[in-house]
This record gives sequence, structure tokens and C-alpha cells, in this order.
Amino acid sequence: MMIEKLYNTGDLSDDELKMLITSDGDSVSEQLAMYADKVRRQHYGDKVFLRGLIEISSYCKNDCLYCGIRRGNKNAQRYRLDREQIMSAAENGYKLGFRTFVMQGGEDAYYTDELLCEIIAELKDRYPDCAVTLSLGERTYESYKKLREAGADRYLLRHEAADCQLYKKLHPAEMALDNRVKCLYNLRELGYQVGAGFMVGAPFQTVENIIADLRFLQELRPQMIGIGPFIPHHDTPFANEKGGTLELTLRLLGIIRLMFPKVLLPATTALGTISPIGRELGLKTGCNVVMPNLSPVDVRKKYDLYDNKICTGEEAAECRSCLQRRIESAGYTVAVERGDAV
Ligand code: SAM
Ligand code: FES
Repeated sequence: MMIEKLYNTGDLSDDELKMLITSDGDSVSEQLAMYADKVRRQHYGDKVFLRGLIEISSYCKNDCLYCGIRRGNKNAQRYRLDREQIMSAAENGYKLGFRTFVMQGGEDAYYTDELLCEIIAELKDRYPDCAVTLSLGERTYESYKKLREAGADRYLLRHEAADCQLYKKLHPAEMALDNRVKCLYNLRELGYQVGAGFMVGAPFQTVENIIADLRFLQELRPQMIGIGPFIPHHDTPFANEKGGTLELTLRLLGIIRLMFPKVLLPATTALGTISPIGRELGLKTGCNVVMPNLSPVDVRKKYDLYDNKICTGEEAAECRSCLQRRIESAGYTVAVERGDAV
């Protein structure tokens, strides 16, 4: 009943959402997946978009409590890719059929506006049919503006937690939800396609917090929503916390597809890490994006956000064909195109 209502209206009351999020049972999950798949097919058919992920730096000035590359982790191995290494990863990715490059990294002052603008402009110049996505954390309005003018199309910045108290429990005192939210609105104003999102099952997260996240997303109306399970990293303050579950992540992916019918929704690497078929199940529950790793193999293990991260040993080509197999086995097809939101 509730799932049908969500399918028909795209929304539920807080109480109804709470019931849907917490109700047990395979039949609920199956019905939700069925409707989520129906909606994704209405808007995107059976296409799955590939985003070539280039993890450009494991240096970070922030100290988010959950993250393996937080500055306080003295055991983290640090690296950064220079312009040539990024270009060569992109060249490789283009040959493999990727038409979006995502440059992601810790907040690393090495990447000045000037350097990033040069890299973005070169990417757009060499590959005019590709989208450039950035995921480099919080920067100033002026910085986002320069990067946008240099050609960046999209920006991924998970809001992490829309509830201010939860946000504070997950981040050090010098970080503030207000600033993160401001960044998201600045990005939107500057004409980026914006991605927000949160971790599922983060320490201290309640169902009410998750509902607040969904409400925040309804206000922001991002083109992309990134959610994946929280997975503990052994060298962080959350080393002994429980991770997010497959069931809850799938439940939320299905709900998000019905609340945001046209959103670009990745089946994340974290989801593939907690279950060998996590990404396939994600695709069957409304996801329409996957992000194969394009980073040079020798740095991959160093972009160590959480324990047991998958895809750290494979060459980009292997990762690409592995994902193609997985996408096809789940009943979808790989789309060689930019894959903008409809
Ligand atoms: N520095 C950029 C930022 O803050 O948006 C991008 C890099 S950051 C490592 C990318 C995302 O990784 C974060 O938004 C966070 O949700 C996710 N992440 C970090 N640690 C994680 C963990 N232990 N488990 C699952 N996801 C995690
Ligand atoms: Fe990277 Fe399978 S997706 S190896």
C-alpha cells in the first residue's frame, strides 16, 4: 500500500517513511525493487551510465571521524596524481568508453584553482564529448566559479548528514553543516549538475536522521544522489562501530528512486564491498550509474576510505569488463554516453 502510494505520488509522510524504512520482510523489499525498476526504466530504459573515477589525492586537511584518509590517520599512505597522470588515466578511460571523468580526492591545497582549471580545460579540449565531474570537497564560491568556467560540468558533495547534531558527531568541531549546505547551493547557482547524499548506517544515525536526509534532498533537488553503506576503517575513531547493512541501503535506494524518479543514482563501490552482489542488487533496485576505478593501480590501495575496499587490484580495463558483465547479468546495458540527467 505504502509503496504504491510512494510510486503514485512520489512522497510519503514522515510516519509512513519511518514504517517503510523499518519494516522487515522480503516481500516489502521485492515490491520496492519492482517499482523502483519500473520507474528507472520509464526514464532511462535499461541504460547504466559509467563514470570513470580518478582518485587524484589521498591528502586531506579534514579529519572526518569515519574516513580512512582523515588527516589524523598517521598510518594512511599519501599520494597525489600530477597533471600527466590524470591525463593518462583519462586517455585510458576514453578508450574504454567512459564519457564522464570524475576527479575525486581529499581536500588537498596542492590542487590550486589554477592547476585544476588547467586540467579541466585540457580534458574538455581533448574530449569535448565528455563530462567532467569534480568531487573535491568544500571550496569557496569563487573557486567553484573558476572551475565551472574552465569547463567542469558536475560536482559531487555528499551533505553527509542533514541533522546538525548528527553532523557534529561525525565531524570535528571545525567543520559545519551550514558551510557544506552553502557549498551545495553555491554549486547549484553556478550551473553545476549537483550530487548530494549520505552514508547509510553511520554511527549514531537514527531513522529520523535518515528522514531528515531525504527531506533535505527534496529541498535541494540534486541531479545525483550518492548513498552507500558506512564501512568502518580500522585506523579511525569509528574502527569498532557497526557498518551499514545491505538491506537498509537497498531499501533506501528503492525509496530514493521513487521519490526522485529521474535522479542519477550510483550503485557504489561501498555497496559492492559489503556484498559480492551488492552493485547488481543496487541496479535492480533503481540504480542507473556505476563508477569503475580509473586510478593508476599503484595508488589504488592508498585511497583507503574504509576496510576491504574492492577494485583496488584491477587494471581499469579489467574493472570495466567486470562491471560490464555485472551490469548485463543484472539485465541492463552499458551506455557509452555522457549520461546527463533527463
Ligand atoms: N573530499 C571530498 C568530500 O569530502 O566530498 C571527496 C572525497 S570523500 C572521501 C568521498 C565520500 O566518501 C564521502 O562523501 C563519504 O560519504 C565517503 N566515505 C568516507 N569514509 C567512508 C566510510 N568509512 N565508509 C563509507 N563511505 C565513506
Ligand atoms: Fe572493479 Fe569489478 S568493478 S574489479
